Amino acid sequence: MSFDVKTFRRALGCFATGITVVTAAAGDGADPFGVTINSFTSVSLEPPLVLFCLGRTSRLYPGLTTVPAFAINVLAEDQGPLSIHFATSGNQRQWTGVGAGRHDDGTPLLNGCLAHLYCTTEAIHEGGDHVIVVGLVRSLDWRAEGQPLLYVRGRYGRLGELFVPLTAPAAVSGDPAATGRMTPSG
Ligand SMILES: Cc1cc2nc3c(=O)[nH]c(=O)nc-3n(C[C@H](O)[C@H](O)[C@H](O)COP(=O)(O)O)c2cc1C
Repeated sequence: MSFDVKTFRRALGCFATGITVVTAAAGDGADPFGVTINSFTSVSLEPPLVLFCLGRTSRLYPGLTTVPAFAINVLAEDQGPLSIHFATSGNQRQWTGVGAGRHDDGTPLLNGCLAHLYCTTEAIHEGGDHVIVVGLVRSLDWRAEGQPLLYVRGRYGRLGELFVPLTAPAAVSGDPAATGRMTPSG
């Protein structure tokens, strides 16, 4: 290969993402935990599947690869501090000052998020120095207002006033007003 890890990371950083915190209840009576994750993506609509990639060296690897369920918390633009908190080693079981409700099984659902997806662990696949955790979405909530926290080239950002829609509103099944088509430029 003609590139090193640093260069690879830089190239990947050009791909702008949202930010999630993956939370789970520890089954052994220990504190629940959360970890900042931007490798989240949707996989399938029917059945409803999502995935995230987890580093094998993460301290949460043993916990997150054995829990039966977890939640994907999609962060809003004002939740940068929460992202930093749950990306910091040693903080991932610290809940002081973190507002959160709980799913029936104790899985934390962070306050103020754009969406929560509560999943049961469907599969764990090999992925080099990461594993690919696939979740079956069992329940969810979301809100239409509010903007996402963004991450690109190693920096946090938000859409703010600069967001220029290039398409009609995203097509949602059953919504005849939405086309999601790119409008011709020039
Ligand atoms: C913006 C952002 C996105 C991240 N995304 C991932 C990810 O997708 N997968 C992952 O394993 N770690 C990801 N991390 C790193 C974890 O949040 C965490 O920092 C890492 O597991 C180190 O924690 P540990 O030393 O307690 O294991 C991300 C960190 C940041 C700041």
